[in-house]
Amino acid sequence: MACRMKTKIRLLNEASVEEAAGILRAGGLVAFPTETVYGLGANALDEGAVRGIFLAKGRPQDNPLIVHLPKSELPAGLVSALPDAAECLMEAFWPGPLTLVLPKGPKIPDAVSAGLPTVALRAPAHEGAQALLRAAGLPIAAPSANASGRPSPTLARHVFDDLSGKIPLILDGGACEIGIESTVLDLSGAEPVLLRPGSVTLEELGAALGKTPRLGRGVMRPLPAGERALSPGLLHRHYAPRAEVILVRGEGEALVQRLKDEYDAAENALILCADALLDRLQPRNCQGLGADERRMAKTLFAALRQADERSFSKVILQGVAEEGLGLALMNRALRAAGFRAVGP
Ligand code: TXA
Ligand code: MG
Repeated sequence: MACRMKTKIRLLNEASVEEAAGILRAGGLVAFPTETVYGLGANALDEGAVRGIFLAKGRPQDNPLIVHLPKSELPAGLVSALPDAAECLMEAFWPGPLTLVLPKGPKIPDAVSAGLPTVALRAPAHEGAQALLRAAGLPIAAPSANASGRPSPTLARHVFDDLSGKIPLILDGGACEIGIESTVLDLSGAEPVLLRPGSVTLEELGAALGKTPRLGRGVMRPLPAGERALSPGLLHRHYAPRAEVILVRGEGEALVQRLKDEYDAAENALILCADALLDRLQPRNCQGLGADERRMAKTLFAALRQADERSFSKVILQGVAEEGLGLALMNRALRAAGFRAVGP
């Protein structure tokens, strides 16, 4: 994109949704809120429009996009097979923060699937996202609306900070309710594989399917060098602020002590932790992410961005147990930390 364009932020309402739908239909890009994070959308059936997403984000071409659909409708030609498990999960969790990877149909351009034989689909629950999908009358390809590698945006301002001058319009729907990206489940193979944990938990998927899906390799641990990733997104640097992030695992007094030790050994550091630990860590620089894991998920990415704005050079992030929503939180935390974790 040679010349910079002016980026408007408009409050999400009927008129701005219409304007956004017009831009999408004309092959342009629009950022919009979902219940998870803000997405950067383009007409999923228009190869040229989809290429614009990769350019605006600086996204590697080998990382495929999620196609967003209105409610639970599945337009013809998007998938070439619909396994029973997919129908069951669509019924249980759509619209909502669950993305399903399925064998790709003939209508999906190669740019969307990055040349893979599969396509990722999700019906977002957010009313504004649904309104945009209905108004555009198109499936919308949308990655998170951050510059590639940065924490996903949970406020319109985050999108503006990353993509100003590169896209014409950001629909402002306030803070995203969930704050971390959708669960991604691969149903294209012999057995379901979790590629990205999210707020639809492994336990909930197991209950709906009658069997807990396998956790993909590379999701919670770095992939051994040279191993091919099931999801290209697993290979790329993610969710990272400019500050160095270190993740501290543990519980009780040992956790508190380790957070203090890491802080005291660092210069210009910030501790991000559950609210309950604040009293025990002060007067060090610390910021509460919330009282429980839901709140922590909602505020994590904004807090990482803020740490950069406040020029901290190190972020010491409290770990949580890898179960329920905690699995998703730890997945984002580990990636933000480049898998640098201390503690048991
Ligand atoms: O909550 C979300 O999912 C947000 C909102 C905007 O919907 N979107 C989002 O998109 O997080 P993105 O592009 O940032 O993350 C999509 C992830 C990437 O890790 C990508 O590699 C993976 O899904 N993915 C997409 N298509 C895939 C496919 N066909 N096979 C395997 N992984 C796929
Ligand atoms: Mg992303």
